[in-house]
Amino acid sequence: MAPTESRKAGRMKILGVNALFHDPSAALVVDGVTIAAAEEERFSRRKHGHRPVPFAAWELPEQAIRWCLAEAGLSAEDLDAVAYSYDPALARPADAMGLDDPWDGLRQTYAAHAPTFLADLLPGLDPAAVRFVPHHVAHAASTALASPYVSHGSDVLVLDGRGECNSHLAGRYDEHGSLTTFHAQELPHSLGLLYEDLTEHLGFLRSSDEYKVMALASYGKPRFIDELTERIRLTGQGGFLTEKVDWRSLAPRLAPGAEWTQDHADLAASVQLRLEEVLVELAQRLRSQTGGSHLTLAGGVALNCVANTELVENSGYEDIWVQPAAGDAGTALGAALQVAADGGDRLVPMPGAALGRGWSDEEIEAALCTARIGYERPDDLAATVAETLAGDGIVAWFQGRSEFGPRALGHRSLLAHPGRPENLERLNDVKGREQFRPVAPMVLAERAADIFERGPLPSPYMLFVHDVTAEWHALIPAVTHVDGTARIQTVDAVDEPLLARMLSEFEARTGLPVVVNTSLNTAGRPMVDSPRDALECFGSSPIDLLAIGPFVVRRSGAFS
Ligand SMILES: [Fe+2]
Repeated sequence: MAPTESRKAGRMKILGVNALFHDPSAALVVDGVTIAAAEEERFSRRKHGHRPVPFAAWELPEQAIRWCLAEAGLSAEDLDAVAYSYDPALARPADAMGLDDPWDGLRQTYAAHAPTFLADLLPGLDPAAVRFVPHHVAHAASTALASPYVSHGSDVLVLDGRGECNSHLAGRYDEHGSLTTFHAQELPHSLGLLYEDLTEHLGFLRSSDEYKVMALASYGKPRFIDELTERIRLTGQGGFLTEKVDWRSLAPRLAPGAEWTQDHADLAASVQLRLEEVLVELAQRLRSQTGGSHLTLAGGVALNCVANTELVENSGYEDIWVQPAAGDAGTALGAALQVAADGGDRLVPMPGAALGRGWSDEEIEAALCTARIGYERPDDLAATVAETLAGDGIVAWFQGRSEFGPRALGHRSLLAHPGRPENLERLNDVKGREQFRPVAPMVLAERAADIFERGPLPSPYMLFVHDVTAEWHALIPAVTHVDGTARIQTVDAVDEPLLARMLSEFEARTGLPVVVNTSLNTAGRPMVDSPRDALECFGSSPIDLLAIGPFVVRRSGAFS
């Protein structure tokens, strides 16, 4: 569809859609402003939306799409474009790409028919309004064009499992939203797929549980680094080679749920270290090509917060920004932003990660009444929650719009006292998670530098690890990982006034400007999104207090 004169001048309404691989999602960008973005799993209540198999690739994130339009009061006819984060014209047969995926052609067929599927879902949509955006361009745009550097341009590095035929992109965005790609590593070489293979070998769910491998790595020593260095190499031309690793020769395969041994932790540590080394070299090379000072990151690999901190320390960049929805969910937003930039819209940085559904006080109260559950409206919600936390209660915190991306950032969070070491095990039990998994702290932004070092500050999206200073180890044991690190969220009173006030009230009672923050869900389920989800989670878990909008529900009085 050729842009009309008005569209050349910008002011476009663009729906972004990610459907093909992981984490189906939708996003809406209007006049260069990110209005809404959400993953389908938050609506369907099926974690990750669907398994990333070719047979599921036809399915669209229907509920997320409908909600995005409703949120902005738009209908399909109002849209200037639908941006789809995969371009089937770039794909090649799987065997030609060296992939053992005999049904990949089905995925490509479904993608080619996406305009028809979308027009069927959205009556009134012209199929010609659908634009295919290359997968890694969508990832790149999701970070560079959503970042604080959008009006100046930035370097961009994307690493994931795979797109159409690549697993990597290194480039630079200029101040007009135009991307120059310096290098794109072709499949089958893929750091993301290699990490997924290891995830499966360790008994975890591939394309889902990679963060568990990162957590396990903290318990190991990288004694297999020589073997990994031999198999994962830089090409010297800006790319890398990943040869098949015989994982069994290094540590036996684990069945799901089986106990891991030191060999498994050492293997995880070795792959993690090699990943960090390769990422640092890729970033250093990019910087030497551009002379840039700001780097933006996306792709599933960019959710590896240990590697991100290594990049901050060793890449030479002044500043690094990571898209909070760095996995495929973010490509819905990136595809929409790229089409907006191409159409001449002036883009503004995304306003934060709270881009999902929100609820009015009336809607929340109606949900409480429907559930016939006892609730109250305290005069000071922040103080009430702080009091419960200080008394070692567990609090479910449901406030504002839900987060886009995998991290709970104080909108759909489970909170606890960080000073009690037993709270790590307690929260992992509440959530039904493995005991080696750490829980993370949120901290008042102005106090973060007193407690944490090494990683970048502020860190509002939990995408970097920091070292806990020695004197604070004993004060906040629940959030200090076995290696002395913590994946922090800094809370700024301007951006998050209620959350910041709750932290201040907690500090007034305990001397600690830190609380434990983990996602509000139980194992295997998506994060809570609606008031009903919150009540279901509260009703089935030993949570002491649910703070939902201006209301609180106490376990002691809820069911009497
Ligand atoms: Fe991806």
